[in-house]
Amino acid sequence: MMMNTRRMMTLIMLLTALTTMAKGKDWVTIQNGELWRDTEGNVVQAHGAGFLQVGKTWYMIGEDRSKSWNPDVNMYSSRDLQHWKFEGKIIQNGVTHPDLGKGRFIERPKLLYNKKTKKYVVWCHWEGHNYGASEAGVFYADNITGPYTFHSGERPLGIKSRDCNVFVDDDGTAYFISTIEENQHLGFFKLKDDYLSAESCTTLFKGKSREAPAIVKVEGKYYMLSSACTGWDPNQCKLSYSERMTEGWSPLENIGDRIAYDTQAASILTIKGSKQTTYLYVGDRWMDPDLPNSKTIIFPLIIKDGKCDILPAQSFQINLKTGEIKTP
Ligand code: GAL
Repeated sequence: MMMNTRRMMTLIMLLTALTTMAKGKDWVTIQNGELWRDTEGNVVQAHGAGFLQVGKTWYMIGEDRSKSWNPDVNMYSSRDLQHWKFEGKIIQNGVTHPDLGKGRFIERPKLLYNKKTKKYVVWCHWEGHNYGASEAGVFYADNITGPYTFHSGERPLGIKSRDCNVFVDDDGTAYFISTIEENQHLGFFKLKDDYLSAESCTTLFKGKSREAPAIVKVEGKYYMLSSACTGWDPNQCKLSYSERMTEGWSPLENIGDRIAYDTQAASILTIKGSKQTTYLYVGDRWMDPDLPNSKTIIFPLIIKDGKCDILPAQSFQINLKTGEIKTP
């Protein structure tokens, strides 16, 4: 049956509207400065966040500081970095380990996936009274959402270790990077194949007292952001880069303003879109002594022609499909 012109026009208009809506949906606005709410309307608690992308879904883990100085580790998932679904507490005081919450606490949990063992692995700062323990905690699970089993809590290779992050290279080699020996240097711990322990450590940035390290690799070059050690107070973020992971790092240089726009680095995300790859700086705006109200802040990290800068946008739009960003 022939469709009359009017019905045809209506159909075309409807299809155009739907396509525009679908396209519009690909753009999300990241608004900085407020506490995030999860899809249930609860405040998101994921400080010192670590991320892992599985297919189109981003998983975020972080410190739940809502009730205690001894944070549980919360997990959230999102497909657009804006709507976060609470997946549960993957590490919980008194449940995952008997000492956790009783003199033991976790900071800066980071998530890895080991392709060989098919296990999800969490590395974190595993601490005790007055930051004296200076240890790293390792947990693993068969499923990303857990349950996670405690593997170890100790000084990696016997080395005192505090603020930390992880980095997985293109060939699957994983590193645990942490502030070592009473906040003096950075230890680049190469992990064993199963990612559950360290096999070697290269001491870098000797005597530079850097912490909150976050590394990203762009076109074969490694970029590292880090802060100075001033507790919960923000300070100058510094950048260093290298062609190789465990040597050749450039002298530290300032990036951003003198207090890193009131943040401290937690992670760097790589958004591989169909048109471009975009990098996002994720930092904590700590609210000491009101730590539960600390904000998670996301800024575009502009890495181009070997240069790197943080764009301190109060809000910006990102298209997770194409990787494009729009800033005001
Ligand atoms: C910061 C560190 C945080 C936390 C805090 C305690 O320097 O980045 O993760 O350990 O000190 O004062």
